[in-house]
Amino acid sequence: MDSKLRTLQERINQAHLGGGEKRIEKQHAKKKLTARERIQYLLDEGSFEEMGILVTHRTTDFGMDKEIYFGDGVVTGYGTINGRLVYVYAQDFTVFGGALSETHAEKICKVMDLAMKVGAPVIGLNDSGGARIQEGVKSLGGYADIFYRNVQASGVIPQISAIMGPCAGGAVYSPAMTDFIIMVEETSYMFVTGPNVVKTVTNEEVSSEELGGASTHAVKSGVAHKTSNNDAACLDDIKKLLDYLPQSNKEIPKHKPYELGEEVREELSSIVPDNPNKPYDMHDVINGIIDYDSFYEIHKDYAENIIVGFARLGGRSVGIIANQPMFLAGVLGTKSSQKAARFTRFCDAFNIPLLVLVDVPGFLPGTDQEWNGIIMHGAKLLYALSEATVPRVTVITRKAYGGAYDVMNSKHIGADFNFAWPTAEIAVMGAKGASEIIFRREIASADDPEAKLKEKEAEYADKFANPYRAARRGFIDEVILPENTRRKLLKAFAMLEKKEVQTPKKKHGNIPL
Ligand code: COA
Repeated sequence: MDSKLRTLQERINQAHLGGGEKRIEKQHAKKKLTARERIQYLLDEGSFEEMGILVTHRTTDFGMDKEIYFGDGVVTGYGTINGRLVYVYAQDFTVFGGALSETHAEKICKVMDLAMKVGAPVIGLNDSGGARIQEGVKSLGGYADIFYRNVQASGVIPQISAIMGPCAGGAVYSPAMTDFIIMVEETSYMFVTGPNVVKTVTNEEVSSEELGGASTHAVKSGVAHKTSNNDAACLDDIKKLLDYLPQSNKEIPKHKPYELGEEVREELSSIVPDNPNKPYDMHDVINGIIDYDSFYEIHKDYAENIIVGFARLGGRSVGIIANQPMFLAGVLGTKSSQKAARFTRFCDAFNIPLLVLVDVPGFLPGTDQEWNGIIMHGAKLLYALSEATVPRVTVITRKAYGGAYDVMNSKHIGADFNFAWPTAEIAVMGAKGASEIIFRREIASADDPEAKLKEKEAEYADKFANPYRAARRGFIDEVILPENTRRKLLKAFAMLEKKEVQTPKKKHGNIPL
């Protein structure tokens, strides 16, 4: 009996050692935690229950039958974060470089299947040299089994990926299909083909960091939604993000208790400058509206002309989309449209109400934009917002010009409550551009064309550079003083809580991808 009990304990001890002390030391020397340390840090103390600790691979080629590690390079199971159930897998770089084998994949699939049945988030901690080279197609099949499940789970349970080491080749496509990717700075990278292949094919010399490091994906490609300084910070970021999300698409995010007070925020009155061409930081508006310190920004360094992120409004989780006049005057471009469209779809899938803050002079002009498909990408945002059935509220702080007015959660595409500040200008375009077109002949034939343009500009601005025409038509439900915005929004979102919309029966729509 004793020896049987000992056998179990020995196997567990062996599993806990992963690829052995030396490889653990190497992992630590790279400033990386091990898979088990990561899980321990991420989950509530003592909550982790491991599954498949005794799984081993089935490969015999290349002497692999002599290299057996319990757990086969991935630690999987469930536990809680702030008391909420989550499923987790963490690839163990100390075992075959975290490379994915058939059995490694089966372990991941098992927790994903459970997460789907129960309805709880899956968190994947990726740190892997990719497909287990000794296994060939069995490993590739394992990836595809995971990809398939990622797609089935999309829109049903939140899926969060942390990239905490290498993630290359086919391996990138599982995180890519999850909802959020958080990358650790300097120790992680993602690419489809690495620097060596790039050099051979295109003759470009590029480092791993430059090709696919955290900052590359956070700033240039938009693949990463967030970056973190180190492993612990990355795991903290996951915990914070999770706080805004529901367990599944059958639930709404948990409200934090909140007592409604006066809710007047004077600071909102002095943010928009008198000169309509002067920028201001839309973050000030966001922070002036939301519960203090509750903004969790997504894609902070990517397409900065639009801001997206989660916040709390009276304890309620909301998704915010806001034009940012500080960057490119807040125009909509290819990247910013995609960024906001994807965020919109996440919020809609997971019952998170949307607040849209508008100060948009239009779409970004130029060959670069047109040739890169601003028509198609702008349409994504228009489509995503139009199909969103969650509560949707808009506040126009300043410009809402042209087609971009329609796109930015206008009444016409299904917004539930549309507010405007007295500083709002809702028009086809700015007064100067408009006057130059419609009064062209009158200006050209004037004794002093410059003075005439100024006069016509003032006339146009007087008519259209305000929210009152739109309010008269009911396109704006209420023009409000900035300091009352928070109070109005708290009430609007509370009023909309039980909103239900019937949509036409279809397999799925055809969003312009
Ligand atoms: N399959 C099997 N074993 C792998 C592996 C893979 N895909 N990737 C790494 N390993 C093993 C290594 O053989 C090494 O084993 P050891 O501890 O017994 O020496 C261990 O994992 C660590 O790898 P190492 O190369 O020493 O680590 P590194 O930090 O210097 O480099 C990588 C990491 C990922 C850049 C490098 O291992 C690599 O290029 N791997 C292959 C990537 C690849 O082409 N994958 C297949 C296509 S998806």
